[in-house]
Amino acid sequence: MWLLLPILVYSLVFLYVRHVYSYWKRKGFPSERVALSWRFLSQAYRREFRHVDAICEAYQTGRERLLGIYCFFRPVLLVRNVELACNILQQGNAHFSEGKWDYVKGYRRFNLLEKLAPMFSTQRLTHMLQHVQHVGEHMLQHLQQLETQGSVELELQQLLRVYAANVMGNLVYGLDVNNFEQSDHLLNSYANNLTSHGCLQSFTLRKLHKKSTLTYRLLDIIQQNVLQREERGIIRKDMLQLLVKLRNGNDLSSDKWQVEHAIEEDKLLCLKRLAQVAEDLLKSALNSIASTITLTLYEIAQQPLIVEKLQTELAEFQADKLQLSLPHLQQLKYMDMCLKETLRKYPPLPIIERICRKSYTLPNSKFTIGEGKTLMVPVLAIQRDEQHFADPLSYKPLRFLHGKPKAAAAATAFVGFGIGGAQCVAHSFASMIIKVALIKLLQQYDLELCCAQSVQVSQLPAPYISSKEGLRVKLKARK
Ligand code: HEM
Repeated sequence: MWLLLPILVYSLVFLYVRHVYSYWKRKGFPSERVALSWRFLSQAYRREFRHVDAICEAYQTGRERLLGIYCFFRPVLLVRNVELACNILQQGNAHFSEGKWDYVKGYRRFNLLEKLAPMFSTQRLTHMLQHVQHVGEHMLQHLQQLETQGSVELELQQLLRVYAANVMGNLVYGLDVNNFEQSDHLLNSYANNLTSHGCLQSFTLRKLHKKSTLTYRLLDIIQQNVLQREERGIIRKDMLQLLVKLRNGNDLSSDKWQVEHAIEEDKLLCLKRLAQVAEDLLKSALNSIASTITLTLYEIAQQPLIVEKLQTELAEFQADKLQLSLPHLQQLKYMDMCLKETLRKYPPLPIIERICRKSYTLPNSKFTIGEGKTLMVPVLAIQRDEQHFADPLSYKPLRFLHGKPKAAAAATAFVGFGIGGAQCVAHSFASMIIKVALIKLLQQYDLELCCAQSVQVSQLPAPYISSKEGLRVKLKARK
């Protein structure tokens, strides 16, 4: 009897595990061979398992457009083909929508992301550029203070995290502070917290929704500043102003910055929900911005010719060093190519992930993905695939030059800002912030890596420099 019980338990567990891990085979999908290796178990035990690397490895096995894989006990459908992924996320968006941005007020139901989209129009960005420049100037002043004999040695990644936090704090929270001087500021702590674990995904790849004391402090800031603007009619041309307009039910696509106030019962968003939207914007921006600027500078510092070309481009267009304008930023074509190349090699969102809400038959195929199952588009693996980009690990901005033989293929396989219906609403805004930082630094300084050999890039999932020393550079003031 006592012997039978463990045998029975073992058999049940075995049958259950076999049932889970045969899901894709039973459904007729091409799938990976499931095997538990010691390497995997020891990595999981030591918490060194890197899911982004594992998914890239799975992408490289075979050539089918779809591949059924398992993330622990979760069956996941990997879409390897770019056109198919684009079709699914375009046509089948309703089947995969997350509902995270859905909002219900009384009888009205709307999507907050659609309402927020006009926030990033050219007209709005033109005004916000002044605030971004202001933060850029703070960064330069800070560097000038650290300079000794015309050069400064520092850890660049941390500086750029402070820059990203400062820009978002300025625009989303209406804070006109200089975080370069206030190293213990709440926004700096938030940025560092996010990098250490806030964005981490669990072993099952489900996003961890973490609330910390910082979240409550950010809520306080929103409460204070929103009420101040509503009560005193203060107008500041930033994102918070547009969030206040949204809260009062105003249309964001008009050019006006003034708020037409609604009575309390008619307000579209309560302060708590508004603070959540603000924090979501902050989270989406922090890692992606800091990571893209850091890795662009890391790559170009190893290729002085690229730095020279960028500086020449800046010298040609920069009539007035102090005032940048949006059309001016848009003319920096070589810088655009560098940004694309960084986002190709190091996409801040290496995997686009969706849960299927309603079962969906994939376009031009016999396969149906069931409700509750996960779909993944391995952005990093696609953009580092030799089929799409020759010599994928080399940093070559000119591969995006218009008219080059491979440029058309590169344009379809470049999905750094998203794919199909999963596009970044803020891509122009992101480019603007990144370009301002690059312009400010490259105009003033020549860049030299202190120890290029020991620099290591890891994924959190956003890529970052994980070496102990970070990205140590020497900035030499240009004549
Ligand atoms: C280099 C910078 C950036 C890159 C490469 C990037 C990329 C992306 C991608 C690929 C998506 C689609 C994700 C999905 O559908 O699952 C996305 C969504 C989004 N992005 Fe960005 N982004 C960047 C910067 C920003 C910034 C600065 C903001 C905010 C101000 C922002 C706000 C958002 C929002 C709100 C979404 C929708 C997120 C969601 O549905 O959860 N992004 N971004």
